Amino acid sequence: MLWPQSPDGRPRRKAFLSELRSDYTGFSSIIGEGIFTKHGTAEVERLFGARVMDFPKPVDLVRQLIEQGSDDQGIVLDFFAGSGTTGEAVMRLNADDGGNRRFILVQLPEPTENDSHPTIADVTKARLRHAAAAIKEERNGKLNLNGDHDIDLGFRTYKLAASDFKIWEPPRDGEEEVARQLEFYADNLVPGAQLEAVLYELMLKAGIPLTARVDKLALGGQEVFSIADGMLFICLADPITRACIRAMIASRPQVVICLDRAFRGNDHLLTNTVLEMKSHGVEHFRTV
Ligand SMILES: C[S@@+](CC[C@H](N)C(=O)[O-])C[C@H]1O[C@@H](n2cnc3c(N)ncnc32)[C@H](O)[C@@H]1O
Repeated sequence: MLWPQSPDGRPRRKAFLSELRSDYTGFSSIIGEGIFTKHGTAEVERLFGARVMDFPKPVDLVRQLIEQGSDDQGIVLDFFAGSGTTGEAVMRLNADDGGNRRFILVQLPEPTENDSHPTIADVTKARLRHAAAAIKEERNGKLNLNGDHDIDLGFRTYKLAASDFKIWEPPRDGEEEVARQLEFYADNLVPGAQLEAVLYELMLKAGIPLTARVDKLALGGQEVFSIADGMLFICLADPITRACIRAMIASRPQVVICLDRAFRGNDHLLTNTVLEMKSHGVEHFRTV
């Protein structure tokens, strides 16, 4: 320890170069760095043309905190995202230093009194889009003298929601009830189920991270989602055709998931599909 000469000094820990994990000099205090909440408010007003959120943090403040706490490949989590300052700070840091940081922002759909952005989550999303557009424009305006790198300014949004699959309730009594239940579950998707939501629900249930690459393919004239570079195929086409089944098999994925109802009760087709998938090396085929 280094003890201060003067009484108002502060004790400091002496660290040798070999002990340092990064050559970034930590800051002891950010107070007085000329970064004030009013800067955050001005930034949001500039992006939205209106005050859509009170007391957003300034981008520069969050940038400094990110530079302190993560390297240029880090994942930055903000569980109280608000106007999305953290997302813009990550985008701007990547734009400046060629980093590949990613962010996860979590924001409740807290209502606002703003018709164009009814919830704060809508403000968060809009801010990210505005910021991405502003960064693109700023970069377009600049001469690319130092071989500027491409940066990914995209983001995906997810919201917590009820499952799109009907929850099975064991029949209480009587054969009639059993028959009614079986008929009810023959189509096990809830009415109005959004296919993209079903896709991500199945990915999560299959243990696939939400960051996995998803490509839309046209196989046998039907839409098939190829996940993680073809490791998993999810086909939500309904009804499903033999041509599509054959085309999926020919692409040799490891796992194939289809909708049970897509076979329209054609047990023959379903059985053949199970056998064909197996005989062509598809490790797992299942219907949901
Ligand atoms: C102080 S604001 C954050 C402002 C943000 N740093 C910015 O620069 O805009 C806190 C935010 O956290 C949100 N929030 C509060 N509790 C939450 C929770 N449990 N999960 C997600 N968001 C939450 C609030 O809706 C509010 O928008």
